[in-house]
Amino acid sequence: MISRSTIDRVMDTARIEEVVGDFVTLKKRGGNYIGLCPFHNEKSPSFTVTPAKGIYKCFGCGASGNSVGFLMEHEHLTYPDAIRQLAQRYNLEVEEETRELSEQHKQELSERDRQYALHAFAQQYFHLQLTETDDGKAIGLSYFKERGITDESIEKFGLGYSPDSFDALSRMALTSDFSQAELEASGLSIHTQSDKIMDRFRGRVIFPFYNLSGKVIGFGGRILKNDKKEAKYLNSPETLLYKKSETLYGLFQAKKAIQKNENCYLVEGYTDVIGLHQAGIENVAASSGTSLTHEQARLIHRFSKKVTVIYDGDAAGIKASLRGINILLENNLQVSVVPLPEGEDPDSYSRQLGGPAFRDYLAEQTVDFVRFKVNLLLTEAAGDPMKRAEVIHDMAETVSFIGDPIVRATYSSSTAAMLDITEQLFIQAVQQHHLNRMKRVRPSERESIEAMPSVALPAEPQSPVLNDEPQEADIIRILLHYAQEPYTDDVLVIDFVVNTLDELSWDNAPMESIFRIFEKSWKEEQRIADRNDLFNHPDKSLAALALHIYSIDYSVSENWEKRHDILTPSRASMIHQDVSSAVDRLNLKKVISLMNQTMERLKHPENEESAQADLEEFVALKEVHRTLAQKLGTHISH
Ligand code: CTP
Ligand code: MN
Repeated sequence: MISRSTIDRVMDTARIEEVVGDFVTLKKRGGNYIGLCPFHNEKSPSFTVTPAKGIYKCFGCGASGNSVGFLMEHEHLTYPDAIRQLAQRYNLEVEEETRELSEQHKQELSERDRQYALHAFAQQYFHLQLTETDDGKAIGLSYFKERGITDESIEKFGLGYSPDSFDALSRMALTSDFSQAELEASGLSIHTQSDKIMDRFRGRVIFPFYNLSGKVIGFGGRILKNDKKEAKYLNSPETLLYKKSETLYGLFQAKKAIQKNENCYLVEGYTDVIGLHQAGIENVAASSGTSLTHEQARLIHRFSKKVTVIYDGDAAGIKASLRGINILLENNLQVSVVPLPEGEDPDSYSRQLGGPAFRDYLAEQTVDFVRFKVNLLLTEAAGDPMKRAEVIHDMAETVSFIGDPIVRATYSSSTAAMLDITEQLFIQAVQQHHLNRMKRVRPSERESIEAMPSVALPAEPQSPVLNDEPQEADIIRILLHYAQEPYTDDVLVIDFVVNTLDELSWDNAPMESIFRIFEKSWKEEQRIADRNDLFNHPDKSLAALALHIYSIDYSVSENWEKRHDILTPSRASMIHQDVSSAVDRLNLKKVISLMNQTMERLKHPENEESAQADLEEFVALKEVHRTLAQKLGTHISH
C-alpha cells in the first residue's frame, strides 16, 4: 500500500496541465487551457483544464476530475497505479507501507495491471536478450547494426530479441509469479495441441508497442532473413491491452514532437519510424501496414491537425492507400503527401540520402493531398473520357469527406478548376456524395450525436430550443464562429450583427443572454467576447447551450449550402452571405410573427383608431416581408 505521505506529496507536485498535456494538445486561454476531449469524439475543443483548481472538465461529455482521476480514466489505472505513475513522472519516491501482505497486494492488482506488469517483464527480458546475451548480440544485435539501427534507437524504442527457443520466456515468466493463464491471455505464450506452453516469439527481433503513457501493450517480431516462408512480421494478438485498430506505432515517442511541429508524418512500418527518427524527424507514427481506422485518425488529431503521409514509391501502393486518406479527411485532418522514388520506403530512402538531404526532400516534395490526387488520377485517365468521369466522381467523394464547410468550399473550387469543369457541377457531385453518406450515419458520428444532447444540453424547457428557434440559434452560431471576421471592407461581423439586431425581442432567453454578452463587450469595450469564456460560463445551461450551438456549425452550414445551392469561392464573401441571410431569415421570422399578432388584434379591434393603426402597421410589415422574402428568394434561386 502506498503511504499517505507519498500520496500527499504526489498531489502537491502534480500539475494538471502537465499531466493532461502528456496526452492532449492544450492551448492556453486566459488562465485555463483548452483542447480536444480525449474521452469523446469532438471536432471543436470543449475540454478545459483549470490549473488554479487542479481539475479538468469536458463541457461536451461531462468528464471531469483531478490529475489522478484523469490517469485512472484515460489509462485505465487503479488508484494506486495512477499515484505511482504520477510519482514516476515527477521523480518522487514511492514509500510503500510494508505491513500489508504482498500476497494480498498482488490480488488487489487488477487483471489489467497484471498484464502491464507482464508486458513490462517481457520487454525487459527481450531487451536483455538483445543487449546482454551472446546469442542476442550475435544474431539480433548484428541484424539491427546491419540495418543501420543505432544503440540510441534500440534504447528509445526498447528493441529486443527473442531467442530461438521453444519456451524460454514462458518459463522465466512462470518462475517470476506470472500464471499460465496470464501468459496465454497476453498472447506471449501459446497453448499447443499437445498441451504444452510455447513462446509466440521465437528467433525474432522485437519491436515493443507502447501506449500513450509509455507502457508496453504488445509486440511485433520480425524474422531475421527475408527468404523464409514464415510471415515477415508476427504481432501480438488482440488482447486486453493491445487493440491494433487503436494503436499507432511510435506515437508515444513522437507525441511531443508532433505537437511542437503541428504535423504528424505517417508511414507504414516499424523500421520506417525508426529510420525517420535517425534522420532527425521525430514527429512520425506508423499505421503498421493496414488501412487506417477512425480511431487512429482521431488519435493523431489529438496532437495535431495536420498529417503528412509518406508513400512508398510504387504506384500500386499509392493507389491502394488513397482510400485510407478519406478517413483522415473525415476526421478533420489536413492531409499532405510526399511520394518517394520508385522502390524506396522511408527507412531505405532516409538512409540513402542521410538526415539533412532527406529532410530537404520532405520539405520540397510535400504537396497538398487533394491536388496530388487530382494530378495522379488525371495523368492515369489522360485521353479517356469515361475515365475522366470516374475521376470527377472519385474527387467529389474525396472532397465531400472534408469536414469544415469553408475548407470544403475552397477545395471544391480549386478542384473543379483543375478538373476543368464548372464549380457548380462539381459541387453538386460533392453534395450527392455527402448526402449519400449522411443517410448511413457512421458509428463514430452516431456516438458523438448520442453523446451530445444528453450532457451538453440542459434537460429543462430550453432543450427543444433548436427546433423552436433555429433562426436565433443561427445568429448565435455566427457570433461564436465569425464575430471577428470582416462583414464588409470596414465593418466586422460582430459590428453588423449587434447593431442590426440590438432592438430585437428574442424568444429564447438563454440565447438572448449570449447575444447580450457579445453586444455588451463589443459596445462597451470594443472587444469580442471570448467564446471559451462562454463555454465556461458560471451559468451551466448557458455554457452548454453555447457549446452546443458552436458544435453544430457543420450541420447548419450544410443546410445553408443546400439552401444556396452554390458556393462562392472566397471565404469573405461566403461569410458575408451567411451572415446577411441569417439576419434576413431572423428578421423575416420576426416580421411574420408581428404580422400574426397584428392580424389577431385586427380581428377584435378595441376601437376605430387602433384598428386603423394596426392596419397601417400590417401593410408596412407586409412590405418588409415582401422585400425580405424576395431577397432570400433570390439567394435560393441562384
Ligand atoms: N506488417 C505486419 N505483418 C506482416 C507484414 C507487415 O504487421 N506480415 C506491418 C509491419 O508493421 C510492417 C509494416 O506492415 O512494419 C510494413 O510492412 P513492410 O513494408 O513489408 O515492412 P517494413 O516495415 O519495410 O520492414 P522491413 O524494412 O524490415 O522489411
Ligand atoms: Mn522497409
